[in-house]
Order: sequence, then C-alpha cells, then structure tokens
Amino acid sequence: MVRNELRYYGVGVCATTNMTKRVLSGIRANGRLHLGNYLGAVKGMLALQEDPSYETFYMVADLHSINVPYNPENFQAAVRDVVLDYLSAGLDPEKSTIFIQSQVPQHVELSYLFSTVITVARMQHLPTFKEKVKSYPENVNMALLYYPVLMAADILAYKASLVPVGIDQEPHLEVAREVAQKMNDRYGLNLPEPQRFATSGEYVPSLTGEGKMAKSVEGSAILLTDSLETIRERLARVPTDSGKGESVPIEGGVASLLKFAELFLGDTRVHELKEQYTTSGIRYGDLKAEIAEAIFAELKPIQQRRTALEADIEKVDRIILEGAGKARKVASQTVVEVKKVMGLL
Ligand code: TRP
Repeated sequence: MVRNELRYYGVGVCATTNMTKRVLSGIRANGRLHLGNYLGAVKGMLALQEDPSYETFYMVADLHSINVPYNPENFQAAVRDVVLDYLSAGLDPEKSTIFIQSQVPQHVELSYLFSTVITVARMQHLPTFKEKVKSYPENVNMALLYYPVLMAADILAYKASLVPVGIDQEPHLEVAREVAQKMNDRYGLNLPEPQRFATSGEYVPSLTGEGKMAKSVEGSAILLTDSLETIRERLARVPTDSGKGESVPIEGGVASLLKFAELFLGDTRVHELKEQYTTSGIRYGDLKAEIAEAIFAELKPIQQRRTALEADIEKVDRIILEGAGKARKVASQTVVEVKKVMGLL
C-alpha cells in the first residue's frame, strides 16, 4: 500500500482537460445496496471507471442520508457498508476516487453559495420533495428542501459532466443544470451542465409489483449480499396470476418478473416467456427458480470480494482516507474559483 500512496501523490489530481471528462455519482447510506442501485447506478459507475477518457469520483452521500429519521449509533457502519459494497462490486481505488461526502466539507460550502441562485418555490415543487413530505409529514426539515442544492454542489464541485444514476434522479439533475446555468450567467463561470448516464437496468421494479425497487419498502428489494436461499424466498413472495392470459401484464408482479427475466436471462428468453403466457402458460415456480439462479450467479463474485474486504478493514480505511484527500483537492479549487467570482475572496 505504501507504493500505492506514492503513486497517488506522484500522479496527483489532473485538471479537467478536453481529453478527460469528469464523472461523479453517489448513493445514500439509508440501507444496504440492492439490485436497483447495482443495475441503475453502480453498473454505470463501473463502465465509466473503465473508460480512460473519464476521471471518476464516487462517494457515499452520507449528508443526504440524515434528512430522514436514521440511527446515529450505527450510521458509521452503514456508511462503511456502502463503501464495502462499492469496492466489492468492482469500484477500484486505483481508477476512481472513492470517498465519503461529509469528509469533503467543500460540498456544503459550495451548496450554500449555490442556494443563493435557487428559489424556495422551485425546491418545493420537485416530485422527490413532495414524496418525502408525504412519507414523513412530521419531518419536513430544511435539509429535505436543500437536498437538490447539495446534490448540485456534489456534482459541480468536480465540474462533472456525466452522472451515472437511476432515472428517478433526473429532476435533481435538472436542478444541477439550472444551478450551473445561473452561476455561469451571473458570474461568468464555466460550469458544465451535467447529464445523466443511463444504464440498461435504469428501472428495476419492486418485488411487490408496485413501483421501483426501494430500500425503504418492505419486501421490495434483493440485496447485493443476499444468499441464493434468500433470493429464492424473496422471489417466492412476488405476487403472480394463473400464468396465462390474452395479453402479457404490463404492471404488477408478473410484469416485475418479466423485467427481471429481461435483465438477467436476456431478450430471447423474455420473448419465449411472453409467447408462453398467451399459449401454454408460464410456470412461475420454475421461472422464479431460474431467475434466482441467474441473479445469484451475478452476485456471487461480489459477495466473495466482500468477504475478503471485511477481513482487511485497514485497507478499506486507507482507501477512504486517500479518497477524501484527492476529492478535497479538486473540490477546494472549485470553491475558491466560485468564491472569487462571487466577491468573497
Ligand atoms: N440523490 C441520490 C440518490 O438518492 C444520491 C446522490 C447524492 C447523488 N448526491 C449525488 C447521486 C450526486 C449522483 C450525484 O440516489
């Protein structure tokens, strides 16, 4: 590891040039990573990490996790779990800067500066905010309203132009683009207007058959750490029908199963299944078993890497420490630049 540290100091953090574009993404620490996070965000993060024309920054959005009721006692463990999930899924500290949001205080500083160009009304009208107000009517705090401004700062602190996240984050990216535009117009900055990087698994349905897979909904998710047995049990609870009908359902449990078949078994198999639905009928017991095997085959190597990492916590600590250092270097340059044009320096 000493060698790696030397390497890191030797290489430093290169500035954005015409050649390298920056990428930033993050996941909240409100629960263990599930298939929705993996297919919708992590797979995109991995693809961009492997592309040498991008410089990639991936964080755990811990500050974005504390605007809803949470447990401070085990929060450090929850944050570290996301880092472990990242690393075991294949994020590589040699290729990406992996860090924890709150360890780079420049995000908060920048978000305050950005908040001066965004109206309260604009934030109140976001669908994500309205949903939170619905689910936590007793807890409509300032941080919830502020969420997209902080997210804009996360992205623009690195002048990232590409953001691998699920489709549900599009309204937040819209805000980030608006912030960039307004800051550029008012202060003559040159912040990029960040675009979403979509993956084929950008919409992973809930096992309940309603909406997207979510950590906060009971019985909705398959976790990256689930055993084959657990995956089977979870799939067993997906509501189905008789397996036969005039047309293939486009919502509900059966539609979810077909989406999983598409994601894990491929298009040919889905065609076959759709055909079966309108003719001989689908046997869901068999289909669920087939899907469970396919999902587990993808998760198994991730789980093996995780077991190895759990035995080397010092290494994980070192990765987090180095990541924060690298991220701060870049983010603080942006803060200085923004403060200068705003007349604060
Ligand atoms: N809001 C994102 C989510 O809930 C998490 C996040 C916070 C994020 N900051 C970000 C994602 C910056 C991409 C870029 O999934």
